[in-house]
Amino acid sequence: MTNRPPLAEWRWIESFARQFAINGVTPGMECIVLSESASRPDLVETSVLALESLGAKPFEVVMRTPANPGPVAIRSTGTTLALNQLQGAIGALSSVPFVVDCTVEGMLHAKELGTILSSGTSILMVSYEHPEVYERMVHDPVMAERVHAAHEVMKCSKTMHATSEWGTDVTVQLAGAFTAGSTGVISGPGSIAHWPGGLVLAFPDRDTVNGTIVLAPGDINLTFKHYITEPISLVIENDYVTDIKGTGYQAELMRSYLSAFDEDAYATSHVGFGMNTGARWDFLEMYDRMDINGTEARAFAGNFLFSTGANENANRFTAGHFDFPLRNHSVWLDEHQVVDTGVLVGVAAGEGA
Ligand SMILES: [Fe+2]
Repeated sequence: MTNRPPLAEWRWIESFARQFAINGVTPGMECIVLSESASRPDLVETSVLALESLGAKPFEVVMRTPANPGPVAIRSTGTTLALNQLQGAIGALSSVPFVVDCTVEGMLHAKELGTILSSGTSILMVSYEHPEVYERMVHDPVMAERVHAAHEVMKCSKTMHATSEWGTDVTVQLAGAFTAGSTGVISGPGSIAHWPGGLVLAFPDRDTVNGTIVLAPGDINLTFKHYITEPISLVIENDYVTDIKGTGYQAELMRSYLSAFDEDAYATSHVGFGMNTGARWDFLEMYDRMDINGTEARAFAGNFLFSTGANENANRFTAGHFDFPLRNHSVWLDEHQVVDTGVLVGVAAGEGA
């Protein structure tokens, strides 16, 4: 028997246990912690111990991470390939009421998700972050109310419109969009949530997104995990980025990376805004790139989040995915302004719609 230092720390176990309890984990409940060979061992161990601390009965399903066929590294897809359609794994996951998803990309868009949820299993995706991120991201019950309220407004709206002083002016027709509000808490048996939460978003229908989006200094290219240093303009025609205007190396990197994929990598994936006041835009300087997935950037309050790549709702499937959390934007859902120059307002700030 070998001794190894513990990977989990009590402060992390405490925060995970709180989140699992909010998600309905109770003593005696059978739970699976799902991971893959490339998962963070500290997240897995913290999850198992947190479930045990609640009196639950956790066990693990550990998959093998498949090879990336290349040619470029893939990040931020929200689509783990680790289950590989293996019926034994799907059967196990379908046999318990609660799964903690510690796969690298997560189950959100995985092929196997529908089958597992339809069995009544609920899944909490734990984003691939350094566990200390979760110490700062405590559950905020008021955020859940704001997310639900803002999502209701989005569901009733015909358009989403975003502008910025740097020149963003983009309109999304919301008819036919798939919309969601994330709170970090499942919505009952057979549902999935991701943690940290705090995002209202839409996967628009085809031919619904037109305009210009300007990435300004301090905005984030989350796939590359860097801050933008020079403005980059994305011209969007009928969902597709048709021009990437910028003279610096960051624009060149974007053009180069995108060229490794099919044309659907240039199309709109999702649009939305962050609502988590515990998340910060300035966290990125503090972590090594491999230490985080960066969901904090997707969720920080008052961002306008624009993403390119896969959009099942528009029947587009591709591995290329860019998330751009943008600061200082203003966002409207029809006549309801939800973000004013990077600050949540109206129903998004907890005021009546
Ligand atoms: Fe995304």
